[in-house]
Formats: sequence, C-alpha cells, structure tokens
Amino acid sequence: MKAIQISEFGSNEVLSYTELAEPELNPGQVLIKNQAAGVNPIDWKTCSGGGAAPFIGDLPFVPGWEFAGTVAKIADDVTTFSVGDPVFGFIRFPERAGCFAEYVAAPVDQISLRPAELPVEAAAGLGLAGLTAWQALFDKGNLKASQRVVILAGAGGVGHLAIQLAKWAGAQVITTASAANHDFLTALGADVVIDYHTQKITDHAKDVDLIIDGIGGQVGIEALACVKPGGTLVTLPSATKDEVIAAGDAIKVNVEPIRVEPNSDQLGQLAGLYAEKKLCLNLANTYPLAQVGNAFDESKTGKVKGKLVLTI
Ligand SMILES: NC(=O)c1ccc[n+]([C@@H]2O[C@H](COP(=O)([O-])OP(=O)(O)OC[C@H]3O[C@@H](n4cnc5c(N)ncnc54)[C@H](OP(=O)(O)O)[C@@H]3O)[C@@H](O)[C@H]2O)c1
Repeated sequence: MKAIQISEFGSNEVLSYTELAEPELNPGQVLIKNQAAGVNPIDWKTCSGGGAAPFIGDLPFVPGWEFAGTVAKIADDVTTFSVGDPVFGFIRFPERAGCFAEYVAAPVDQISLRPAELPVEAAAGLGLAGLTAWQALFDKGNLKASQRVVILAGAGGVGHLAIQLAKWAGAQVITTASAANHDFLTALGADVVIDYHTQKITDHAKDVDLIIDGIGGQVGIEALACVKPGGTLVTLPSATKDEVIAAGDAIKVNVEPIRVEPNSDQLGQLAGLYAEKKLCLNLANTYPLAQVGNAFDESKTGKVKGKLVLTI
C-alpha cells in the first residue's frame, strides 16, 4: 500500500511517499480502506520531533491520527461493524496510528459509522478537531446553556467547530480572528468576533465562564483576566500549558490542560449533528496523499480556515 513514512525527525524533507505492507489486523480491530486523512498541527510537530514524538516509539513512523473510509476486513471477534460499512475515526492518540496510508487497522471502540450526509473529506477532518472542541467545552469546561464562552482562534480547525458546538449547547460565543474571517465566524453563529490584531480581548470579554485557548502562551495568559471567579480556561497547546497554568494559579483562575482522547460515542454525536445540519466543517484545502508536505506548509502558516485533508 502507499503511505507517508518518516525515518528521521525533521522538516518536510523527511516525508517519504512509499510502498509499505498493509497493517496486521488484531482482535477488536477492523481494516479500513482509507479514502481521506485529516492534517493537524500535531502531525508536523510530531514529524519534526516535538508534539507526540515521545509516545510513538521507534522510527520509522507513519503519521496521521484521523481517517475516513470503508471497512475492508473485520477481525474474527468483531460484531459491531461489517465489511463495506462507511466509517471514520480518530485512533490511538498519542501513540502511533498510521492514518496517512491506504489501509489503517483501527480499534472498533474508536471509530464510528459515517452517515450518508457526511462526505468522506469532511469526516476525515472531523475526528481530532471535533473531539477536542467537544471535550474542551463539555468534559473539561462543563459548558451549560446561557453561559459565556470565549474561543481563541475561532477560524482554526478546533475553533470553528467549537463555536458551532457552543452555540448548539445554548451558550453565548465570543471569538477572536483576523478581519477576513469575521463574516465566516458570524455565519457559524459567533455572537461577537474580535480582531486580535487591533483589539484587546480584555476590552471586549468580561466575566466569562469559559475560555477555549487555541493559541496558548502569552495569548492565553492575557485572556485569563476575562474569566469570572470560578470560571475555567482550557488551554490546548501542550507546549505552553505549564506557563498558562502558573499564570492562572497566580490570579486564582482554574486552567485545565487537555489531551484529546479517542471516543466513538462522541464521534457518533458529531456525525449526527453534521447529518442534521447543526454542524459543518470548513474544508480549507485538500491535497493528494503524496503532497503531504504542501499540506504541512499550509498548516505551519497558522492561517488555516477550518481543516486540511489528504485524499487517498
Ligand atoms: N491538547 C490537545 O489535545 C490539542 C488538540 C487539538 C489541537 N491542539 C492545539 O491547539 C492549537 C489549535 O489547533 P487547530 O488545529 O485549531 O489549529 P489551526 O487550525 O492551525 O489554527 C489556525 C487558526 O489560528 C488562527 N490564529 C492564529 N494566530 C491567532 C491569534 N493570535 N489569535 C486568534 N487566532 C489566531 C488563525 O486565524 P486567523 O487567520 O483568523 O488569524 C487560523 O485560522 C494548536 O496548537 C494545536 O496543536 C491541541
């Protein structure tokens, strides 16, 4: 099968489009004929030796944690899926998952059926960012109807899904983005969109219940002043979580780090919302698998509007 593999850490020059054996199918797994794989900042961070690199074991390594395709084979003990089922998933994170490949062996408790209304490219981009948004808002942030939530980096993969999920939950949503993305985010339901280039978040968001911090570092630290007593900031970038937690401790704001976890029930809920047209995924760009380096370059700009997906 065709796959992307790295044999050393580095920039795009380490990405090799190569021929590999299909993965082995173990109990509790299905073999997926993969049609598309989502690209996330964690992919290029890990390939360069950061991100999830400590968890992936020895090189070589096939990157990618999310996919969409159809079931090609099932292990003898699998009763919940059948050959031919359309599925999508976010699997094994932060350990190796091998989704930048034509075939993926996936644990059945980390995948979900893909309804007809959910196209394969959108499904491939929904897992990691959608579960991060869901778990940050509801599991870590405990968001309730009528609360006020700030979503920093509203136009990104996580942010644009988090805005829609927060509105679906009945919250009031304030978000940050460049001016070119304001209409996009208003159309997704954001009540207030702040241009972070010219406006300060602390001037426009006060006494908020929850912040989803998609930027981290100094941006997350400055936003802490917007949180009301007893409120929470969930910080997504793991590289800066310690400094944001320390700054939160100093002013008695609860800061929650997060590591997104596979969850088939939540995937099913995301797919259901998509099918009911309560959630959409903005495909910023698709690239053929062999052009993963171009997708990484686009992701590294920090300007992706929605999600990047590789087609296979
Ligand atoms: N801990 C976890 O489990 C976890 C899970 C998922 C993601 N993450 C991390 O969370 C971060 C966000 O992920 P993502 O996939 O959503 O990233 P992304 O899609 O690459 O985010 C790109 C967006 O960031 C916006 N942006 C850049 N600088 C900004 C700033 N200073 N203020 C507001 N918006 C800004 C850009 O919007 P404009 O074009 O409007 O400027 C762009 O749309 C990444 O660091 C990622 O690694 C962590």
